[in-house]
Amino acid sequence: MDETSPLRSPLQPPPDTYFSTAAVLPPASAPGFGVRCAAPSPAPTPGSGVRVLGPASSSVAAPAPAPPPSASSVSPPGSPGSVRERQPLLGPRSLNDFPEEPEFAEVMRRAEQAQEMGIHPQRISQGSSGSYFIPDPAGKFIGVFKPKNEEPYGHLNPKWTKWLQKLCCPCCFGRDCLVLNQGYLSEAGASLVDQKLGLNIVPRTKVVYLASETFNYSAIDRVKSRGKKLALEKVPKVGQRFHRIGLPPKVGSFQLFVEGYKDADYWLRRFEAEPLPEKTNRQLQLQFERLVVLDYIIRNTDRGNDNWLIKYDCPMDSGGSKENDWVVVKEPVIKIAAIDNGLAFPLKHPDSWRAYPFYWAWLPQAKIPFSQEIKDLVLPKISDPNFVKDLEEDLYELFKKDPGFDRGQFYKQISVMRGQILNLTQALKDGKSPLLLIHIPPVIVETTRSHHRSNDLYTQSFQSRKPFFTWW
Ligand SMILES: Nc1ncnc2c1ncn2[C@@H]1O[C@H](COP(=O)(O)OP(=O)(O)OP(=O)(O)O)[C@@H](O)[C@H]1O
Ligand SMILES: [Mg+2]
Repeated sequence: MDETSPLRSPLQPPPDTYFSTAAVLPPASAPGFGVRCAAPSPAPTPGSGVRVLGPASSSVAAPAPAPPPSASSVSPPGSPGSVRERQPLLGPRSLNDFPEEPEFAEVMRRAEQAQEMGIHPQRISQGSSGSYFIPDPAGKFIGVFKPKNEEPYGHLNPKWTKWLQKLCCPCCFGRDCLVLNQGYLSEAGASLVDQKLGLNIVPRTKVVYLASETFNYSAIDRVKSRGKKLALEKVPKVGQRFHRIGLPPKVGSFQLFVEGYKDADYWLRRFEAEPLPEKTNRQLQLQFERLVVLDYIIRNTDRGNDNWLIKYDCPMDSGGSKENDWVVVKEPVIKIAAIDNGLAFPLKHPDSWRAYPFYWAWLPQAKIPFSQEIKDLVLPKISDPNFVKDLEEDLYELFKKDPGFDRGQFYKQISVMRGQILNLTQALKDGKSPLLLIHIPPVIVETTRSHHRSNDLYTQSFQSRKPFFTWW
């Protein structure tokens, strides 16, 4: 990693009003973070906390303090910033080529084929953004597409209720802890984290480019597209010179459609009335823990019980002939799908007027200590600093594609994620339950990178400013 790495802080340490005292964090306690530092001393001011500095030598301090740039005011080197944000997002179809994942590439090919055949996506009526079910040539849904410019802050968001809310009550609109208008990256980032940790609960999600008449376009785009089509028909010689004839492709997240799943809410109510067999209940618990791990690491701010799905198959096969009256009862299969991950990877822990709780924390499953299975799956990875750094770099490669990418913001997002990983690692080691995990004070872990990964400096800070409304 070089000097300009996004994971090297482009910011100076924050002003003293936010962080107070300093202490030393040995390298072993940095991310992948073997050791947790001591509990914070009482915070002197709201929003203040304890700062812990690396490396092993206490004489080495972090870089000289200076106020951090506000997210919008300064774009560190390497940040295209807001100038590119409003530029047209035209991507050639070839961008939907995923040689490393042929199955996903094949789904995209079928989606494009359907589009060419005039089988159009269907807008999802619920939610705050323009989201679409994407069909294959047979009309069967194969994906969910969420275009960047139809997100709540996107200039083409088709949901007028959201537009009205933004207009009439801007202070209540959006979440100040999140990067605006990058929900599609959060969706793809959640899938990346899921895949790297081997959780397998997020339907594969990637950034793709799609165009369709059903999507919300500006009148200008529609007129231009019609004009070009007309030109091609009337004066083919001129028309053939156009780079593109149809509507401009939109960049957004494309998540594979999962079949046979229902809102978690639905099944959880059913399971209350008709308890699951013990073995199946255990399966559900193991899946649930994976959801907790994902949500906690990405600090999902939108995990209501309508934003994860459960599939419950209880197949009863008549395996033999009717004469023998043989009935083979297969093991019921239960599986979770974590969808709608667009409001994660915050810049800071929620500290304004809403707490954005994890709604699963109210479920009885959250009171059960983490299993050995989840510890075996996750701990070796998240306690390995190299794994954590690889994860950060993969997220950087993904997030930097956004035209509004800002290194300073990304650095903050990663600092929150490192803090979450630190807390989760300790909670798993201590045999805590998900409910106890979310009671651990949130931390952020900043880093100052050196040329050698092993010499990185880590700064751990506690955020003690609490949301105004909280249930805990
Ligand atoms: N990958 C998927 N497979 C199957 N169904 C899905 C998938 N993703 C979403 N759905 C269905 O679509 C509904 C809406 O999806 P989702 O919650 O992701 O969008 P949204 O609420 O419109 O998004 P947002 O809250 O970001 O505006 C879900 O409740 C679910 O029924
Ligand atoms: Mg939703």
